[in-house]
Amino acid sequence: MTTRHTVQLLVAVVLSVLCLVQSFQPLISRKSRTHREITQAAILRKTADVCRDIAASEGWSTSVAVDDSLSASKVQKACSSPTTAAFLLSSVTYQSAIASIYFSNAMVDTVSTLKQEHHFDNETFKAGRDLITAGVAAVKASVKQEEYMAGRWILGRVCHTLQDFYSHSNWVELGNTAPYSALIKPDQPLENLADPVTPTCRGCVGGDCSNNLLPEVLKKRLLTSGYFSMFSSSKPAGKCSHGGPFDRTSEQDPVGGISKDEVQSSHGSLHLKAADLAVRATVELLEDIRVAAGDKHFLRLMGLSHSSVLCIVIDTTGSMSDDIAEAKRVSFEIIDGKRGTPQEPSAYILVPFNDPSFGPVIRTTDADVFKNSINKLHARDGGDAPEMSLSALQLALTAAPPSSEIFVFTDAAAKDFHLKSTITALIESTKSVVSFMLTDALASRRRRKRSSANKMSQADVQLYRDLAEASGGQAIEVTKSELSQATTVIKDLSLSAVVTVFQVARNPGRPEKFTFTVDGSLRNLTAYITGTSSLTFSLTSSKGISQSSSQPSGPLASLTTAGNLRRLSLITDSQSGSWEISVNSNDPYSVKVIGQSSSNFIYNLVEAHEGAHRDFSLKEGRPLSGGKAKLLVSATGSDTVKVTEVTLIDSFGTKEVKGSLQPVGSDNVLVTFSAVPAGQFVVCLKGEDSGSTSTSTSISFQRQASTHIKTSSILVTAQVSNTNVEPGSTISIPFTVATAINGVIDDSGTGTFKMQVSNDRGYRSTSPPAITIAARSGGKADGTVTLTVPASAASGTEVILTIAAENAAAADINYVVLRFSVVAKVTDITSPVCQVVNASNTCPSSPSLCASSQWELIANLTDGIDGTGIERVTILRGNGTLTTGTVAGARGENIIVATYRASCCSQNVLLAAVDRVGNVGVCGRETATSTGGHTLSLSFSLWISGVIFLLLT
Ligand SMILES: *[C@@H]1O[C@H](CO)[C@@H](O)[C@H](O)[C@H]1NC(C)=O
Ligand SMILES: *[C@@H]1O[C@H](CO)[C@@H](O)[C@H](O)[C@H]1NC(C)=O
Ligand SMILES: *[C@@H]1O[C@H](CO)[C@@H](O)[C@H](O)[C@H]1NC(C)=O
Ligand SMILES: *[C@@H]1O[C@H](CO)[C@@H](O)[C@H](O)[C@H]1NC(C)=O
Ligand SMILES: *[C@@H]1O[C@H](CO)[C@@H](O)[C@H](O)[C@H]1NC(C)=O
Repeated sequence: MTTRHTVQLLVAVVLSVLCLVQSFQPLISRKSRTHREITQAAILRKTADVCRDIAASEGWSTSVAVDDSLSASKVQKACSSPTTAAFLLSSVTYQSAIASIYFSNAMVDTVSTLKQEHHFDNETFKAGRDLITAGVAAVKASVKQEEYMAGRWILGRVCHTLQDFYSHSNWVELGNTAPYSALIKPDQPLENLADPVTPTCRGCVGGDCSNNLLPEVLKKRLLTSGYFSMFSSSKPAGKCSHGGPFDRTSEQDPVGGISKDEVQSSHGSLHLKAADLAVRATVELLEDIRVAAGDKHFLRLMGLSHSSVLCIVIDTTGSMSDDIAEAKRVSFEIIDGKRGTPQEPSAYILVPFNDPSFGPVIRTTDADVFKNSINKLHARDGGDAPEMSLSALQLALTAAPPSSEIFVFTDAAAKDFHLKSTITALIESTKSVVSFMLTDALASRRRRKRSSANKMSQADVQLYRDLAEASGGQAIEVTKSELSQATTVIKDLSLSAVVTVFQVARNPGRPEKFTFTVDGSLRNLTAYITGTSSLTFSLTSSKGISQSSSQPSGPLASLTTAGNLRRLSLITDSQSGSWEISVNSNDPYSVKVIGQSSSNFIYNLVEAHEGAHRDFSLKEGRPLSGGKAKLLVSATGSDTVKVTEVTLIDSFGTKEVKGSLQPVGSDNVLVTFSAVPAGQFVVCLKGEDSGSTSTSTSISFQRQASTHIKTSSILVTAQVSNTNVEPGSTISIPFTVATAINGVIDDSGTGTFKMQVSNDRGYRSTSPPAITIAARSGGKADGTVTLTVPASAASGTEVILTIAAENAAAADINYVVLRFSVVAKVTDITSPVCQVVNASNTCPSSPSLCASSQWELIANLTDGIDGTGIERVTILRGNGTLTTGTVAGARGENIIVATYRASCCSQNVLLAAVDRVGNVGVCGRETATSTGGHTLSLSFSLWISGVIFLLLT
C-alpha cells in the first residue's frame, strides 16, 4: 500500500465531507470577516473539539456542533461535565483570553504594519513561515512555564501572519481548498514558489482584477503574494500587488492587486473562501499546540477554567504571626471545602514579603504545594516597619491571571511607595482587584520590638485605600482579633461566577441614596460597606421592605461588623427590581454589592484602526481627558444576553457619560464615549437576558466593572516591534511622552515628567529618571528604556515592563504596560518520527464479538540523532494501553518502541510523540468501518489528524 496515496485519498474524502458540511451553513453575514472574528471562530472550534474528546474519554457526552454557530458560552457549557454544570459558571475568563489573543493579533497591523514577513507581503514565504514556526515554539515554551498570558500574546501574533497568508497570497486562486500545512511545519519544504524574476500578474482592466494572475502562474501552480508599500510605488517587474487605497505599488503596472482582506478588495469575491481557510489553518495550528501542550494545559491557555485563583500577598515580619495563622486558616478552609469540585481554585499564588526581601512568587495548581508553602511561612523577628508590600503586590499582579482577586495582609506601611504608579498601571491593565487586610493599622504595633515608631500614618493607610479603590477592592482595617471575621470576604469572592452589581466610593463622604438592580439570576447577594463607626445606613427592597443598620438581622439581610467593614448577606428571594441603600456619613465610605451570576461582561479600551484590515486594537494606558474613548464590550454567560446601555459614571457621582452602542460582530459591541471629561470613572452596564428559563419575560440586569478608568492629560507611547527577547540580550525600547488638551496632543505643551520604569522579574533596566518636554519641541519628548535579560532566564518566561510618567504636581500619571517573552532560539525544528511498524489483524469481523478480543499495534518513535529528544508519548485517540521501551537505533539515536493494546471494540488509535521543544509527530491506525472492516494503517502527519478530529467525533 502506498501510504501517500491513501493519505491523499483520505484527505480528499475528508475535505469533500467538510465542504458539504460547510455548504449547509448559511453565511452569517455578507460583510467581511476580520482577524478578530477568524481567530475567535477558530478558538471556539478547537476548544469545543478538545472538550468533546475529553468528554468521550471521561465517559460523559457533550453535544455541540463544531461550526460557525458556536459561541463562547456554548463552548463553556459544552466543556462542563454534568457535575460542573450544577454550579454557576462564568465564561468571563474564557472570553477575556480570547480577547487577548485577538487583540495581540490586531496589534500586528499597528506595530508591524511595514514588516513584509508579518503579512506574507512581497513573496516573503520563507521569512513568514519562520515567524510562524518560531512563534509556535515560543507559545509552547510559554505554556511549559505556565505563562499562559504570554502564550496568548505570542499566539495572537502568529495567528495574524498565518491568516494573512490566505488573503495576501494566491493560494485560494490556485484552487486549493485546504490550508497550507507546510506553514506550520518547519521541516516541510515550501514548494513551487514563484522566483523573484518571474512575472506573476497583468494589469487589471477598468478596476476589474478578477483575471489578473498570469495564466502561466496558474498553470504551473506557482505561489506568489502581492507587493505592498504605503510610500513607494516601485516593485519588481511584473509582480502582483496587494491592492487597495493604502498600497502604492498597485498604482504601478501591473496595476491593481490580489488581496482578499475584505469583500471590497481586488479579489474580494474570494474573501469568504480565504477567511474560511484562515479559520481552518488557525484550527490546525491550535491542534499542533494542543498536542504539544496536552489537553489540560491547552484549555488553560484558552482560559477555559471555571474557577478563579486564590492569591495571597502576606507580610511575614515579627508582628504578623496572628495574621499568618488567619491567612492559613481561611485558605485551608477554602481549599478543603472545594477540593474536587468545580469551585476549587484553578491556581494558588502566594507572595511573602518583609524588609528588605519580597517573593519569590509561589504559583501552583497543586493545593498541597500551596498548603505546604503557607505552612512554612513564619513571622520573623526584627521586622522594622515599613515593608516591601508594593514590590510583592507587583509580583502578584503579574503572576495572577487578569481580573483576579488579590488579598494583601499587612500591618505596616509600604516602604516602596515609589512604586505607586507602577502598581496603579498594573491594576488598570490587569483589571485585578486588590483588597487589603490591614491589622492594627492605626494602633501602635505593640508586639514589635521597636514599637513606638511603627505606627502607620494616615497617609500610609491612604496609599492602600487609594490602590484598593482604584481596583474596586477594599481596604479593610481591623484589629488582629477581628481579622477572622473580615476574611469572610475572601470566601465570598472565591465562589464561582462572582459579579459586581454595584460599587461606589465617596471621599469626602456625604449622605447619599444609591439604587441598584437585583435580577433573578443573582445568587448569594452580599453587600459590603466600609466607613467610620458613626456611619449608619438603611436598605429598602424592591417591595418596599426596609432594614436599618441598627438591626443585625432583619427581613432583608444579616449584618456582621468587623473593624471598618460591614458585611450584609442579603435575603432577596423573589424581590427582583430596584433596591435602595441610603448611607448617612460625612466621612469617607464605600459600598459594594456582589453576587453570583453567569451574566456578566468583559470590556477593553480600544482604538479603531484603519489600514488593510479595519479593526480594533487594545488601547494601553489611560484615555485622554476630554477625548473620545471606545470600549469593546461583550456580554458573557448566554447567547440571549443583550447589552442595552453602557455608561461611565464618575467617582463623585456627579458626571455620567452615556456611550453609543454599535454591534461589530462575534457578540461584540463597540461603545463610543464622545468626550470623556477629566476624572475617574466606573463602567456600568445594563443588559437584558431574553432566554431565561425561569420566566417568560426577559430579565433586566445591571453589572459594574471593578476597576476605575481614569483619564489623563499625559500620553505615553512605546515603540516595540519585537516582544521576543533572547536570554543574555539587551533590548532598547524607545518611548515618547506628550501632553494633550481635549484629547489632542498639545503641540506647544511643555513640562517635566518623572519616569517610573519597573519590571516584575527584577531584570536590569535603565531609564532616564525624568523627561522634559522643552518649548518648541512639538509638545513631545523621547527617551529610551533598556531591559537586559540574563543568560540564565528560561525560555517561555514572561517579563512585564511598566513605563509610567508622572507630572510635576504628582497629580496625573499615564503609562504603558509592555509584555516581553524570553525566547531562546529553537534549533530543533524537526518533528519526531512516529511510524507504525506492525498492527495485528486479529479482530473478529463481526462487531458483536469484539468484546472478547484484543488487538495490538507497534510503533517506532524517534527524534533522530540531532533532535532534542522525545519527552512524551501520548494516546490522542483510543482507549487502550501503551507500553514503551527504548532501544538504540543504527545511528545511535534513541528509538522508543511503543506497544499499544486495545479491545477490538476500539480499533482506532492515534499516538503522538512530543519532543522537548514541542515538535509533534503523529501516527496511528484508523479503521474505516463503513467499508466492511477494511483496515488502513497510516502514518499521518499532524494536520490530517486535525481534520479527522473534526469529522470523526
Ligand atoms: C515590498 O517591496 C517594495 C518594493 O520592492 C518595498 O518598497 C516595500 O517596502 C516592501 N514592503 C514591505 C511591507 O516591506
Ligand atoms: C452561596 O454561598 C454558599 C457559601 O457561602 C455556597 O455553599 C452556595 O453554594 C452558594 N450558592 C450558590 C447558588 O452558589
Ligand atoms: C506483526 O504482528 C504479528 C502478530 O502480532 C506477528 O505474527 C508478526 O510476526 C509481526 N510482524 C513483524 C514484522 O513484526
Ligand atoms: C523499529 O525499531 C526496531 C528496534 O530498534 C527495529 O528493529 C526496526 O527495524 C524498526 N522498524 C522500523 C520500520 O523502523
Ligand atoms: C473503549 O472504546 C470502545 C469503543 O469506542 C468502547 O466500547 C469501550 O467501552 C471503551 N472502553 C473503555 C474502558 O472506556
